[in-house]
Amino acid sequence: MIRKIITYPNPLLNSVSKPLETVDDSVRTLLADMAETMYVADGVGLAAPQIGVGLRVIVVDVGGESGPGLLKMVNPEILSRDGEIEWEEGCLSVPDLRVMMKRSKRIRAKYLDENGAIKELDAEDLLAVAIQHEIDHLDGKLIIDNVGRIRRDLYLRKRKRAEEHARESIVL
Ligand code: NI
Repeated sequence: MIRKIITYPNPLLNSVSKPLETVDDSVRTLLADMAETMYVADGVGLAAPQIGVGLRVIVVDVGGESGPGLLKMVNPEILSRDGEIEWEEGCLSVPDLRVMMKRSKRIRAKYLDENGAIKELDAEDLLAVAIQHEIDHLDGKLIIDNVGRIRRDLYLRKRKRAEEHARESIVL
């Protein structure tokens, strides 16, 4: 089922999500819904708080032939980091904004898969960036937290105008 993606400045996006104790059918349904929602929205990652669910659950699929494909990660955490990379990131919850972010180039992550098995994964470049971005969501952090107040205010005004315009143009 496709879920609605909430957007900044919804305060749910700034909350710290809770870890799960078990991976049961309700979590598997959540993961499946999140993957579907991510693909429809054309994103490479999605975190549960983006659909208003405060649990430490993410999905990531950066595509590519050699990549791992769709990753469903419960309670993801970064075990180690190496190197640095700058990446211009966007976010489905912060539409029409791109922010240059400094990330670790390589990470080793630990998580539970959809069967509750403990997994470890080495990731670099885009995959590493995507996992770091999604884990930030679980900690209530957004890319817009890394821009200055002037650019943030400008963004909010622009979004408000766009939303008003969208409302006016709905004629049924
Ligand atoms: Ni995001």
